[in-house]
Amino acid sequence: MIRTAVIGCGYWGPNLIRNLYDEPRAQVRYVCDINRERLEAIGRRYPTVKIVGDEHDVIGDRDVDAVFVATPVETHYRIASAALKAGKHVLIEKPLTDSSAAAQKLIALAKKHKRVLMVDHTFLFTSAVQKMKEIVSLGELGEVYYIDSVRVNLGLFQHDINVVWDLGPHDISIANYVLGQTPRRVSAVGASHVSQRTQDVAYVTLYYPGQLLGHFHVNWLAPVKVRQMLIGGSKKMLLWNDIEPSEKIKVYDTGVTVRHRPDGRPDKGEIYKTLIQYRTGDMYAPRLENVEALSRVVSHFLDCVETGQQPLSDGEHGLQVIRVLEAADSSMKLHGEPVSL
Ligand SMILES: NC(=O)c1ccc[n+]([C@@H]2O[C@H](COP(=O)([O-])OP(=O)(O)OC[C@H]3O[C@@H](n4cnc5c(N)ncnc54)[C@H](O)[C@@H]3O)[C@@H](O)[C@H]2O)c1
Repeated sequence: MIRTAVIGCGYWGPNLIRNLYDEPRAQVRYVCDINRERLEAIGRRYPTVKIVGDEHDVIGDRDVDAVFVATPVETHYRIASAALKAGKHVLIEKPLTDSSAAAQKLIALAKKHKRVLMVDHTFLFTSAVQKMKEIVSLGELGEVYYIDSVRVNLGLFQHDINVVWDLGPHDISIANYVLGQTPRRVSAVGASHVSQRTQDVAYVTLYYPGQLLGHFHVNWLAPVKVRQMLIGGSKKMLLWNDIEPSEKIKVYDTGVTVRHRPDGRPDKGEIYKTLIQYRTGDMYAPRLENVEALSRVVSHFLDCVETGQQPLSDGEHGLQVIRVLEAADSSMKLHGEPVSL
């Protein structure tokens, strides 16, 4: 039995607690939050769990094997580093930390103390992202040209991070995982309409090696919730609409081919009128398993604790995401000038 504690039970923490309760391999010993009201609500729902208001009570208890950190980003490093130093495995909410320097220190601490450090990049564990990874890896789309995402809704405004740090980790993590690459440069523009210091609308471009482009649009000021990602390839194209209750992914046998002249070179001049051919073939929607991604996150983390295997979203994966977020912040200050990683 892996003895666990959840620190932070605001919006996301209770989802972790619920999934841990469903896991026969785990026991929830503590739930910790500085907000008494939230804590008491959890206590009423899970009467056997110890509820405490001070993270040190959890970290100082030798009978806790693993700590789940679901507090605001600015506290991640402090809590996770103390837990790792106390010999506990750590699952930490995205984004890993508020700086790449802090992320590197956590990775080093986990290595030194031989403990699992995993970041909850929940989307990697969705059936949709797993299917996209499979489709891209099998080469079904051909050479991937771009990955383009829109992730917008009204709020929730965060007090310690901007919209890129709030919503962007999902897109960066998904893009890096599905493409199996990390970007070389980042360019971003953003604007702060509501609070002077915090960007609430942003457009971010990721330059992967070669001609491969990533782009995401994140926004806290949209009238509707949109969660769409397109992946365009030389053979096929894919649309993921996460709001759709079924047929979330559609693969289109759609593309463009350039007819060559007998000498093998594309024609000049008339080329766009005559030689580009558009192919619009069939579409299919792959079947996706209906499993809550967070239950897979929890189960994968417990597997890693038991076997010592490296998590899919390990500290290094989390660090790559932070590097892009930092570069996006720098680029926004430079009005979109690309920043190298
Ligand atoms: N994986 C996902 O899809 C996903 C979704 C939402 C949020 N998150 C992440 O989860 C984390 C928390 O986000 P949230 O939306 O739940 O925030 P929230 O503000 O709703 O909850 C945070 C909780 O942490 C508590 N807290 C703060 N400092 C504490 C401390 N030192 N000790 C104990 N408790 C403390 C607060 O009182 C609050 O109840 C963030 O990192 C966020 O990015 C991840």
